[in-house]
Amino acid sequence: MPAPIVVASNRGPIAFVRGADGSVTAKRGAGGLVTALSGALAASGGLWIASAMTDEDRELAGRGRVDVPGDDASAYSLRYLGFDAGLFDRYYNGWTNRVLWFLHHYLWNLPQTPIFGNDTQDAWDAFVAVNRAFAEAMAEEGGRLGPSTAFLVQDYHLSLAPAMLKELRPGARIAHFSHIPFAGPSYLRILPERFRTALLEGLLGADVVGFHTPAWADRFLLSCRLLDGARVNLRRRTVRWHDREVRVRVNPMGLDVRALSEEAARPEVGRAREELRAWKGDRAMLLRVDRAELSKNILRGFIAFDRFLETHAEWRGRVVFLALLNPSREDIPEYAAYVGECVRAAEFVNERWGSASWRPIDARVRDEYAQTLAAYAHYDALLVNPTLDGMNLVAKEGPTLNTRDGALILSETAGAFQELQRWALPVNPFDVDQTAAEIAEALDMPAEERAARRRGLRGAVRRNPPSRWLASQLSDLGLG
Ligand code: ADP
Ligand code: G6P
Repeated sequence: MPAPIVVASNRGPIAFVRGADGSVTAKRGAGGLVTALSGALAASGGLWIASAMTDEDRELAGRGRVDVPGDDASAYSLRYLGFDAGLFDRYYNGWTNRVLWFLHHYLWNLPQTPIFGNDTQDAWDAFVAVNRAFAEAMAEEGGRLGPSTAFLVQDYHLSLAPAMLKELRPGARIAHFSHIPFAGPSYLRILPERFRTALLEGLLGADVVGFHTPAWADRFLLSCRLLDGARVNLRRRTVRWHDREVRVRVNPMGLDVRALSEEAARPEVGRAREELRAWKGDRAMLLRVDRAELSKNILRGFIAFDRFLETHAEWRGRVVFLALLNPSREDIPEYAAYVGECVRAAEFVNERWGSASWRPIDARVRDEYAQTLAAYAHYDALLVNPTLDGMNLVAKEGPTLNTRDGALILSETAGAFQELQRWALPVNPFDVDQTAAEIAEALDMPAEERAARRRGLRGAVRRNPPSRWLASQLSDLGLG
């Protein structure tokens, strides 16, 4: 009998939304965590506990489990936890995305931010309350499913839940996995001591703490040295904490190639592919696909494209840069300001170089998944230049669906770099001149080299299906 699986994450695989005609439909959740975990869980089955993100989810939260159908009997079920809107806002916007996301991605502008004041404690209290609700729900489900249940707790939103669950069920087998980087000890010290200690202690409630890359795992281990009483072994990647040994593991998450290809075969994606083909005409296409997100480095991407057009006059009029930016975390002022700045930068480039018949950058800030999958088919170069990224699945999806042997320009600081670096064009995300040079290199690359690199990228993606990630998690918990 395979071990029962309980996954917990803030965002669930789907959110329910009510359309203009009053009917309720399921909408895919955004972001790499959802893409990757949906792939892993569709094959294994299990229960996924997530926060209700919409009013319709909140209605369902009161009604127990929802089945998410798959193409075989092992589809999984979903349980939403509904929270008071004010509490959820303080937890999600106030703490997890304004403090923890900025912390782990090194996003603060230190002369000005962060400022920890009165509202910090309120946001923290909401974070504690939501983590407790998740821990209680997991404990309850574990009681029903039995002692061999694997609890797979996901991401920074639920950093406290592992210790809370361990307290409720001391025998529970718990893995925590971060889909984002982890701040090193110097940066972590920006957080007041009581918060950073609680965060580390929360994670150390798990039996196994997982990350996408060795760099994030090692930063976590070094950060654990800030904890009184923790004994860190960097070589073995373990932390002796109280009377337990916590193992820190590196387990890069892969892509469900089959599910992605099925999505890309839907009729609306086909129609979008035709529209984009007509739109781009004979021009080469540079593509970027991101949540409209500060760590994705969209602004420097546009500045680099400006440098590229300045230094490569022969490409003027012959290339279009399509930027598909999926709106994200719109209640956070820093995000709104950043997106505005990106759009203005694109307009600047268009005014500087464009003509009546050529608009160099088309920056589309809207939620269009079908168009994203369609655009992957047509790019000649894909720019993935985050300043820091836990993994970045766009870098894996693009080469999987591309039909033009397009080149991948990839930040050395993206988690995906460790698996894809041999076949990608590497960039330092802060160096716009280097990025401009790599755009030129990508667009001028001889056909044979493009094909060889693309084969390499596809192979690397195929070698790491999400089922491998799940199997490693279970075997690390002694349940494989
Ligand atoms: P992050 O998790 O930081 O958003 P990733 O690159 O790892 O970054 O993952 C982004 C995921 O979101 C990809 O799987 C991508 O296909 C998906 N995606 C892109 N646009 C949309 C959209 N409009 N709706 C839902 N998912 C999207
Ligand atoms: C990243 C995080 C996920 C998150 C996603 C989208 O991938 O690792 O936990 O779900 O971004 O962000 P959102 O705030 O919309 O859930």
